[in-house]
Amino acid sequence: MSTFSQSPKNNANNLEARLQIDYLLDNKTIEIEDRQEVINGLQRIPKTLPARYFYDSKGSQLFEQICQLPEYYPTRTEAGILEQYAVEIVNQTKAEELIELGSGSSSKTRILLDAYQRLNRILYYTPVDVSDSILKASAYNLLADYENLKIDGKVATYSQALQQLQNSFLGTRMIIFLGSSIGNFDNSECDRLIEQVTAALNPGDYFLLGIDLQKPLEILNAAYNDAQGVTAAFNLNMLQHLNHRFQGNFDLSLFKHQAIYNQIDNQIEMYLISQQTQSVTLEKLNLTIDLAEGEAILTEISRKFNLEQMGSYLGDRHLKLIQSYTDPQQWFGLLLCQKSN
Ligand code: AVJ
Repeated sequence: MSTFSQSPKNNANNLEARLQIDYLLDNKTIEIEDRQEVINGLQRIPKTLPARYFYDSKGSQLFEQICQLPEYYPTRTEAGILEQYAVEIVNQTKAEELIELGSGSSSKTRILLDAYQRLNRILYYTPVDVSDSILKASAYNLLADYENLKIDGKVATYSQALQQLQNSFLGTRMIIFLGSSIGNFDNSECDRLIEQVTAALNPGDYFLLGIDLQKPLEILNAAYNDAQGVTAAFNLNMLQHLNHRFQGNFDLSLFKHQAIYNQIDNQIEMYLISQQTQSVTLEKLNLTIDLAEGEAILTEISRKFNLEQMGSYLGDRHLKLIQSYTDPQQWFGLLLCQKSN
């Protein structure tokens, strides 16, 4: 029994009965693929680590802090767009099933959920996140605040969750992918994700995608090199996570955060720079790597998009753009697409 059941108010809302969480991460084959991805990445030039390793429970907390930073415009800009258009989106789509990739704290999702509550019917919400602590905590909070919700969360990678969702349709479905998390993917990863999204939709179903748009360099640089150093802590925490997960001995004090904007590829690139010659061992991966002084490990790309280009890219992949929304400065875009036959 969870402690939540003790409270009479929550009892009345019957939280437990409206909650299910599936754990897909422990799957043995995935575990092997995961390990191989880290091993391969650390043997590439430059050494590269998958961005999803940011999000252990500490990393998810740090990301929430990033979202509050004055320099980090994406979260509040996207929230502003949602505030303005949530009712329109909900009325247009009338989805019965809402799936969110990378739900985190689900705070922006609340803007959509507020609009759904006005439809006065049950909404099936499936948050998908690799961090079980944040997924659980936000699920309980949402259930306490929204009586019309039934939550079936998945602690999973996007790919695991989308595969499973291909076989379970409850009604008109909308998959949402907010915050420009799609910006973490290179072209081929992006193709694969969109393919998996399309496969998890029936014709007529919806996809709502948030993308960060191209904008002046100074704004981008400030957003990823904040004055308080929260982004630096977030970046370095990945090494801590890897130490924990794979019995490693990364010394965080021997690395420095660096974020630069690559104007050719239109993307922020986040690196951890080795401050001296060193070797690092990850026992569980049977792996030792050598780093030169000044050598960079690429931990994340964050692509900045063009709204029209993204619209036609999706259109070419059976996701017809039906409406795009943006803010007055055109810093962020929200694309509403519908799966065609
Ligand atoms: C969650 C991938 C959208 O790229 O802006 C924030 C992650 N990295 N600050 C982004 C992030 C550094 C964020 N995404």
